[in-house]
Amino acid sequence: MQIELEAPPTRIERLKAITDATHERLDKRIMAAGPFDSRERYALFLDVQHRFHADVDPLYNDLLLGRLVPDLPGRARLSLLRQDIADISGVMPAASHVEASPRTSPAALGWLYVAEGSTLGAAFLLKEAAKLGLSAEFGARHLAPHPEGRGLHWRTFVAAFNALDLSKADEVEVAEGAKAAFHRVHALVEQVFG
Ligand code: HEM
Repeated sequence: MQIELEAPPTRIERLKAITDATHERLDKRIMAAGPFDSRERYALFLDVQHRFHADVDPLYNDLLLGRLVPDLPGRARLSLLRQDIADISGVMPAASHVEASPRTSPAALGWLYVAEGSTLGAAFLLKEAAKLGLSAEFGARHLAPHPEGRGLHWRTFVAAFNALDLSKADEVEVAEGAKAAFHRVHALVEQVFG
């Protein structure tokens, strides 16, 4: 008799399942706001992204987290976002501030999952931005694939993330962190697009 055992879901797969519905609502809400209708609308999308990445930027330079995730500082996209805003508006934005942030390292991992996962959706968004004449060299730098390739960059993150040795309590905090990060982006979208 052959027994087929299904592999248990990985940590990333569990996080994806937990946040699938909120991601879908976010995706629909953003697209319904017409962020690629004009460069003016796209500037609003950049504002949302800029503020979220201002929140997560310190995590990318956190020494403890840096020991857990390979090339963490090299994954930060805040400076690319600032340059995108300068491309579109002609003015470098004022220094950004953290307005929302995780309180613990496991929660921070949940926030990082959301920020890093969004590089996957960025492939689609970059194609939309191209219709406005924007590219990895102008206005849509933060949507461009990492030089090592979008897929490999994500898989390296996933492998390290799945390999972390976390307690049950930490695991819950990671999930809460991911939910809080999506919540933050939802709030920013409402604030900026109204
Ligand atoms: C209109 C906007 C967006 C679109 C069209 C979009 C689309 C996508 C697509 C096609 C994927 C890859 C396929 C999948 O695994 O589901 C993805 C993954 C993901 N996106 Fe988005 N996305 C958008 C915005 C965002 C934003 C603003 C965030 C958070 C800041 C985000 C977070 C994520 C995450 C965490 C994943 C990884 C899921 C996983 O495989 O674990 N997305 N997105």
